[in-house]
Amino acid sequence: MKNIYSKISGIGKCIPTKRVTNDDLAKFLSTSDEWIKQRTGIEQRYWVENNESTSDLAFVASQEAISKAGLAKNDIEMIIFATLSPDHFFPGTACFLQEKLGIPGIAALDVRQQCTGFLYGMSIADLYIRQGIYKNILVVGAEVHSKGLDKTDRGRDVTVLFGDGAGAVVLSRTEVNDPKRDSHIYSTHLHADGTYAKELWVPAPGMANGSELITQAEVIDGAQYPKMNGRQVFTHAVRSMCDVIMEGLKHSNLTIEEVDFFAFHQANLRINEKVASLLKIPEKKVFNTIQKYGNTTAATIPIGLYDALSEHRLTPGMLVASAAFGSGFTWASSIFRY
Ligand SMILES: CC(C)(COP(=O)(O)OP(=O)(O)OC[C@H]1O[C@@H](n2cnc3c(N)ncnc32)[C@H](O)[C@@H]1OP(=O)(O)O)[C@@H](O)C(=O)NCCC(=O)NCCS
Repeated sequence: MKNIYSKISGIGKCIPTKRVTNDDLAKFLSTSDEWIKQRTGIEQRYWVENNESTSDLAFVASQEAISKAGLAKNDIEMIIFATLSPDHFFPGTACFLQEKLGIPGIAALDVRQQCTGFLYGMSIADLYIRQGIYKNILVVGAEVHSKGLDKTDRGRDVTVLFGDGAGAVVLSRTEVNDPKRDSHIYSTHLHADGTYAKELWVPAPGMANGSELITQAEVIDGAQYPKMNGRQVFTHAVRSMCDVIMEGLKHSNLTIEEVDFFAFHQANLRINEKVASLLKIPEKKVFNTIQKYGNTTAATIPIGLYDALSEHRLTPGMLVASAAFGSGFTWASSIFRY
């Protein structure tokens, strides 16, 4: 099994149709295009408008990823679904996606690592493939945030950040003879620190919420909406993303200069600019999509890879460093040759 690795063999995406500009948000929130752009880089995002669910968006992205991999749906042996906006409390959204794809019987796993979920999912898929257990695994990141945001001024710090969308990749078994040329994942590196769990979270409904999932008073109070300590997230994100990229590169004796393309999570343009400046990464090597889509959490990295590929910014053979940070806190990196 020495030469057996996994590689990305297909990528798909799905962006809902309703474009929501910063000016659109300013119609019902005390905010402005200037504030949002200056603080986050976001110009617009897309929200579902026909009641689509997270698995609906994932379904479209997954079908495309499978077809781009040159595979049929029955070639997929496992589904890994990263989301913080599941279709239901249970069962996992991977099961709803599986039903839509019509591939019963295979393993279906949900990953609940928020903005880092896609890289956690890639890591699990990579290990299953390298162990020789599966040949093709679908890894999806998808979110419908718009139905779960506080659209009053109370929630404006969070609401302006998030967009809906889905991205999917197929990871496939590959033999690597020349690591400097052949597509493969070198390694993935995962971290978490639950000390900060309540710095970015949804307090209720939940089983830790006293004697009821959620009370009427808590609903009125908005406990069902995300709460965030933005400054704390910002500072930790910059430090952790820098550290975890360097950890990944060091693991395979690679240098930051050798990396051709940086696929960062899209939480805030300023976070990515700061990471790039601290690691002395030339601007042209960083591909950001947050301006167009906002933060689509588990979907940002596959959506970014998809767009970069379409725009010929990402091409076969490139060395890619991907990193994410999010609620948990969780953070991760993946170093791969596309
Ligand atoms: C959220 C974030 C943009 C806020 O920027 P900030 O510079 O830290 O701003 P602050 O929270 O200090 O708020 C500054 C002011 O803007 C106000 N404000 C908050 N949201 C606003 C909005 N959408 N529009 C206008 N004003 C807003 C605040 O109420 C505050 O007003 P005050 O000075 O009168 O008290 C920034 O902290 C951030 O991006 N953090 C990371 C968040 C993130 O990445 N989350 C996703 C995790 S993966």
